[in-house]
Amino acid sequence: MHIGHIPLTNRLFVAPMAGVTDRPFRRLCMALGAGYAVSEMVTSRRDLWNSLKTSRRANHDGEPGPIAVQIAGTEAAMMAEAAVYNIERGAQIIDINMGCPAKKVCNKWAGSALMQDEALAVAIARAVVEACAPRGVPVTLKMRTGWCAGHRNAVALARQFEAVGVAMLTVHGRTREQGYSGAAEYDTVAAVKAAVRVPVVANGDVDSPEKARQVLAATGADALMVGRAAQGRPWIFREIGHFLATGEHLAPPLVAELERLLLAHLDEHYSLYGAETGVRSARKHIAWYLRSLPGGEAFRQRMNTLDDCRAQQAAVAEYLRVLGGSMDRLPAPGPQAQHTTKTTEGSWA
Ligand SMILES: Cc1cc2nc3c(=O)[nH]c(=O)nc-3n(C[C@H](O)[C@H](O)[C@H](O)COP(=O)(O)O)c2cc1C
Repeated sequence: MHIGHIPLTNRLFVAPMAGVTDRPFRRLCMALGAGYAVSEMVTSRRDLWNSLKTSRRANHDGEPGPIAVQIAGTEAAMMAEAAVYNIERGAQIIDINMGCPAKKVCNKWAGSALMQDEALAVAIARAVVEACAPRGVPVTLKMRTGWCAGHRNAVALARQFEAVGVAMLTVHGRTREQGYSGAAEYDTVAAVKAAVRVPVVANGDVDSPEKARQVLAATGADALMVGRAAQGRPWIFREIGHFLATGEHLAPPLVAELERLLLAHLDEHYSLYGAETGVRSARKHIAWYLRSLPGGEAFRQRMNTLDDCRAQQAAVAEYLRVLGGSMDRLPAPGPQAQHTTKTTEGSWA
């Protein structure tokens, strides 16, 4: 599979999740079987580009590539400028966010709200493509099925995005109005796939190898994007990949492998965020990794009292060392833990 002229190693993508899919987590997902990872969104507001948050998000040191940066905003010229700014900092693919509700970043409703204003949505896509094309950078776009049940316009928009040169479309199978309620529907994703020739990526509620196979079959999509199910389970990509290739399930990871992965993840997390911020922002990752393990909840509560990153890492190592004394491998995943739907960025679309 290709995005524009850029080849990918496989068709399993990790979804952009603000506050989650930072560089350390993206690298981990790629090392564990994801073929592609898009960054957390970066605002098109120039006055925020030098903020600590945006500059961390624009840091791609050591990423295997292709480097894909997602931009969000409501004005075509600003979005085009943001695309160029990120290309100059290493972006090889620009993704347009039509799911961002972050009013505080954009000053007005952006993202999926743009699906209500098709002319503006298409003008943004056109301006970004015009800025990126001379630099040889493909533009992709991520959207929902529509604004609300009565206004599912993903197919009409997809045709227009393709016509202005968007190279790949990702569709999350819910409307903006739905938030995360109900189950994702895949008929609209299938209709988008049937309507355009560029690659289409299906997204929403893929949380197991079986579900991945089912969504690929139901949509005919070229690729799958996995978000919440990868939280604390970045090896889900190799599990899905193995199942799609062989029809068989991989054994869950060894506890010793989890220990190696998690401790390395924490090292890279602390080095990106610094010790003080890192110890706090790492807590959610640790909690996700350990949520279904024996004693995981008690450990999480104790860990939340630790304010020093070395103490946090040592506590995780000790917990996993003790766990390793009672089991070799992680238990096979049961019914998925309730998905996280809240983010520091607002409720995502
Ligand atoms: C914590 C969180 C942050 C998110 N941030 C973004 C984002 O920055 N850009 C974006 O396009 N979508 C964002 N999303 C939406 C996801 O990319 C994805 O579309 C959604 O979670 C549905 O996929 P899933 O069911 O596999 O999680 C976010 C979702 C979550 C849960």
